[in-house]
Amino acid sequence: MPEKASIAVVGTGWWATTAHLPAMKAHPRIGKIVLVDRKREAAEAAARTYGIPLDNCYTSVAEAKAAHPDLQGAIVATTHHAHYAAAKDCLDQDLHLLLEKPMTVYARDAKALVEQAAAANLKILMGYTFPYLPPVAQAKRYIDDGLIGDIEYVACSMSSVTYDLLLGHPERFEPAGGFAVTGPTPQTYSEPTVAGGGQGVLQITHLAAMMFHLSPGMRAEVVTAFMNNLRAKVDVIDAMAVRMNTGALATVGSSGNLRPGDPGSVEVHLHGSKGRILVDGFTGEFFMHLHDGRQEHIPRHNPGYPGDVPLAKFVEILLDGADPLFPGRIDGLYTVELLEAAARSAARDGHPIFVRDLYA
Ligand SMILES: NC(=O)c1ccc[n+]([C@@H]2O[C@H](COP(=O)([O-])OP(=O)(O)OC[C@H]3O[C@@H](n4cnc5c(N)ncnc54)[C@H](O)[C@@H]3O)[C@@H](O)[C@H]2O)c1
Repeated sequence: MPEKASIAVVGTGWWATTAHLPAMKAHPRIGKIVLVDRKREAAEAAARTYGIPLDNCYTSVAEAKAAHPDLQGAIVATTHHAHYAAAKDCLDQDLHLLLEKPMTVYARDAKALVEQAAAANLKILMGYTFPYLPPVAQAKRYIDDGLIGDIEYVACSMSSVTYDLLLGHPERFEPAGGFAVTGPTPQTYSEPTVAGGGQGVLQITHLAAMMFHLSPGMRAEVVTAFMNNLRAKVDVIDAMAVRMNTGALATVGSSGNLRPGDPGSVEVHLHGSKGRILVDGFTGEFFMHLHDGRQEHIPRHNPGYPGDVPLAKFVEILLDGADPLFPGRIDGLYTVELLEAAARSAARDGHPIFVRDLYA
């Protein structure tokens, strides 16, 4: 295996230029960086900011791979509706993937990517972040060790400051100090044909993936949901009820209508046959109470946001043959199934949607 990783970044907008490119520039095991964006000017703006040769900018993955046959992997950070085509383009070029969330908008597309990757022996790491935090990793260890027993009920809730993005006003969302290179466009998170949905695909995707990560073997079977768009074209407030293949039941809810300064919550509260664990990725809180009386608590604190960790893990996949902690076939696919079923249910006023019917 080569000593340094050669990686293409596909989609060089807000998140690629905020998280992935700075992480790549700081990582000692990154060799070549190639930029692909269907808007050449977006790739070139990123190249200028991060000292990448303008000659390494392309408008298609095929063109980039033809010019750089040593590419090993790609980071896909396009807008949501473009994930499938961009990820497929990369798999077609024999590249391993670090794929931003949600994997795709439709379960059928996610399944196609999973199958294509498996057939070609390519790995897909989903770009989720919260499970790398120590309190979430602790919850995972305890659950894997059987401390809370069989999972019977999960209550998931996420609230965040995303309403301005969902309304199409990224300039109001702008972080202190401004966007690193460029912010999302007004359409990125507000226009259904670009965003593929609202709070569900933007935020619940984190929450649901955390739930599936913490609950091995669990997969949605039937989903009923209600959503409220408030004044946006996409969902802002979501309430879902889910029956899993294991028989476990879950509620998954979210609001994007918080205000800056509120840390929000991305909380998964798992109840098992031997006790319960609650863990929150925004506040770092961890609480466990077992039926035998044992309790553990990590109070609320600021656990930070591990936005650079997915890149570091991807490098280990490319150079050391590591396996993804959040593989596309579980955290990617199962999350998309839940989100698509919920969107279909909400469109029919809460009519129950069976996940198997997403593939009919
Ligand atoms: N993990 C996180 O915390 C986090 C935070 C923010 C965004 N994200 C994710 O990052 C991804 C990108 O979001 P963003 O805010 O940077 O969007 P953006 O609109 O700022 O950038 C997307 C870029 O993709 C390009 N693009 C679109 N379709 C393409 C295609 N088919 N091929 C090549 N380029 C294409 C666009 O021209 C644009 O430059 C989304 O999946 C989003 O959910 C993750």
